[in-house]
Amino acid sequence: GLDISALMKTTGDTTLDVGFVNTASCQSAITYIDGEAGILRYRGYPIEQLAEQSSFLETSYLLIYGQLPTAEELAAFDQRLRRHTLLVEDMKNFFDGFPRDAHPMSVLSSAVSALGTFYQDSHDPHDPEAVEISTIRLMAKLPTIASYAFRKSQGQSLLYPSNDYNLVENFLWMTFGQPTEQYELDADLAKALDLLFILHADHEQNCSTSTVRLVGSSEANLFASISAGIHALSGPLHGGANSAVLSMLTKIKNEGGDVADFVRRVKNKEDGVKLMGFGHRVYKNYDPRAAIVKKTAHELLAKAGDNPLLDLAMQLEQTALEDDYFVERKLYPNVDFYTGLIYESMGFPSNMFTVLFAIGRLPGWIAQYREMITDPATKIGRPRQVYVGSPARDYPQR
Ligand code: ACO
Repeated sequence: GLDISALMKTTGDTTLDVGFVNTASCQSAITYIDGEAGILRYRGYPIEQLAEQSSFLETSYLLIYGQLPTAEELAAFDQRLRRHTLLVEDMKNFFDGFPRDAHPMSVLSSAVSALGTFYQDSHDPHDPEAVEISTIRLMAKLPTIASYAFRKSQGQSLLYPSNDYNLVENFLWMTFGQPTEQYELDADLAKALDLLFILHADHEQNCSTSTVRLVGSSEANLFASISAGIHALSGPLHGGANSAVLSMLTKIKNEGGDVADFVRRVKNKEDGVKLMGFGHRVYKNYDPRAAIVKKTAHELLAKAGDNPLLDLAMQLEQTALEDDYFVERKLYPNVDFYTGLIYESMGFPSNMFTVLFAIGRLPGWIAQYREMITDPATKIGRPRQVYVGSPARDYPQR
């Protein structure tokens, strides 16, 4: 497993903690994780109960404002978001400018950065009204941007959001609707996507959230901080894992479906091959989100008939869970082991999977930024280092 002592050493007043395995960067009242027990709670509410009973909209409100909304507060939040889904027309020029094969995560982050150029009025992080309107704009517009990134990559025209739909429904309409056809919303699909967004909505001080906080700690505005967070999420060790899992499963299938041989190669660390979707820095027990996703994957994919990749995923999980290598290192499926399969069955290409993660994680990033910026204890983030370079030397006389 993880040998913390090998990574940590204290030199004078400075503690070296590579990868921040044991260093808290802040105090936070948003999300609680107990990695040993496999517990995740948002604002005290267990993830299982939120998954069962809440909606993404309500969970977003809970994360951002600290408590569950009343029915009136939720309706007002919903209405407010519906009125902010449109992008400034000029923003469309950006989508025209990006190459068609651009990765949608790059488009997403660039467009969020560009959003900041349109709203000069809302850049002061210490003006609560400015932060509030930026919150609403980001929450309402990110799904619009995400669907435009998708349609551009497909060579399709962009659709305007509709005020008849809530956040998740609107995203599905703008992504899969056709301008010439009546759109029939698939309620099961909307519900499944809503659930996946709830499961991704926050996860305390992970790489992208820490990035949002670190950038924001310089008093950079919300757009700049979220744009940086999206970039942090794009890597395969973080949000990019969901598409990496699908590539891994497809590769195993194309090479004859030998799961045992693949696991052997992972254990021998052949070519640095990892079991993607397995392992987590904090969960050393089953990731509670993975258990919920697994159930949904079965329900959704069963409708579509036999899915060889789901069978392979289950075989892989079973083989790994019975293998000492994974048991000793406490490696279990994480939330993204099964999400790629679900997103694919919904009709998303694999380069969109991480974009979906970003839509889900947005309320968490925003809540963390707001908590950071209003906390009197916040200081600019400024880690120290342990210098290992050359001692002082004189510039050569020439
Ligand atoms: N497959 C095979 N071996 C693994 C895996 C894996 N997926 N993950 C960790 N290990 C091994 C390491 O090689 C190491 O073994 P060693 O002691 O023999 O060298 C040991 O388990 C400890 O792993 P670390 O890399 O030190 O653990 P860390 O906490 O730094 O990494 C991480 C966590 C990045 C998630 C890692 O497990 C990983 O790369 N997993 C695959 C990518 C993935 O699924 N990422 C998604 C994370 S969840 C999320 O962002 C939503």
